[in-house]
Amino acid sequence: MKVTVVGAGAVGASCAEYIAIKDFASEVVILDIKEGFAEGKAMDLMQTASLNNFDTKITGTTGDYSKTAGSDIAVITSGIPRKPGMTREELIGINAGIVKDVSSNLIKHSPDVTIIVVSNPMDTMTYLVHKTTGLPKNKIIGMGGALDSARFKYRLAEALGAPISDVDGMVIGGHSDTGMLPLTRLATRNSVPVSKFLAEDRLEQVKEDTKVGGATLTKLLGTSAWYAPGAAVSGLVQAIACDQKKMFPCSVLLDGEYGLSDICIGAPVILGKNGIKEIVEIELTDAEKEKLQESAEGVRKTNGLLEL
Ligand code: 2OP
Repeated sequence: MKVTVVGAGAVGASCAEYIAIKDFASEVVILDIKEGFAEGKAMDLMQTASLNNFDTKITGTTGDYSKTAGSDIAVITSGIPRKPGMTREELIGINAGIVKDVSSNLIKHSPDVTIIVVSNPMDTMTYLVHKTTGLPKNKIIGMGGALDSARFKYRLAEALGAPISDVDGMVIGGHSDTGMLPLTRLATRNSVPVSKFLAEDRLEQVKEDTKVGGATLTKLLGTSAWYAPGAAVSGLVQAIACDQKKMFPCSVLLDGEYGLSDICIGAPVILGKNGIKEIVEIELTDAEKEKLQESAEGVRKTNGLLEL
């Protein structure tokens, strides 16, 4: 199993690190355009192998896509991250050109690759990868919902005063401060609806804190987060690499599901060896449906800025 991670920045490096630590891939190639950067990150990570007990071989390359040839899975993290006060949508000008270039280079050397998109604005970048590569829709996955759901569970556990392992919950919709739809109605503490433990206003607060999860960290860190994004990606890569058939909310090209078409947006999917095995349509309330439509309008507005 060969995995390429494009972008050796903080998200790319932590993603490569988590993949290696889980020790399911034979090879991880990190590619970056900054001279020597990917090689340096790869070497540093390889020097943790005997300490962290993994055999995954990590190599780095400065822009040589031939080194990525035959990748089963590729993760695109390239582009600029947001700075405090910026929205993800504001990154489109620079990141669209980068993501287009990266995805066409990837498929030249790995025509059967499954691509996971992390670069922001993530739903629009996922849509752009569809338009650029023409890969089948099961092979293009946007990472946002997996990360947003992890942030949701963190906030739920905090509000409940419960261990995170007791909590389950999912965020669908667009990966943006306004577009996320944390499904509090379906969130549980060990199978019991969280509404049994938390009042409506506290649940609203959990929802709001989840939606601005990325912005909160960007303000604290001065740039966008990397540990949780890296861990979220590694979970998706593992589900595909190990044919786990696990369910995650991910940005996927919809074709009528949830009443939406020709858009990539967060919905629950089952991931296995061929990427997306199935899009799961859950029953939403009218209010949730309305929120999802609003979220889709936001994503479509950003998609409209693409030069396709
Ligand atoms: C975040 O929310 C990277 O968009 C990502 O942290």
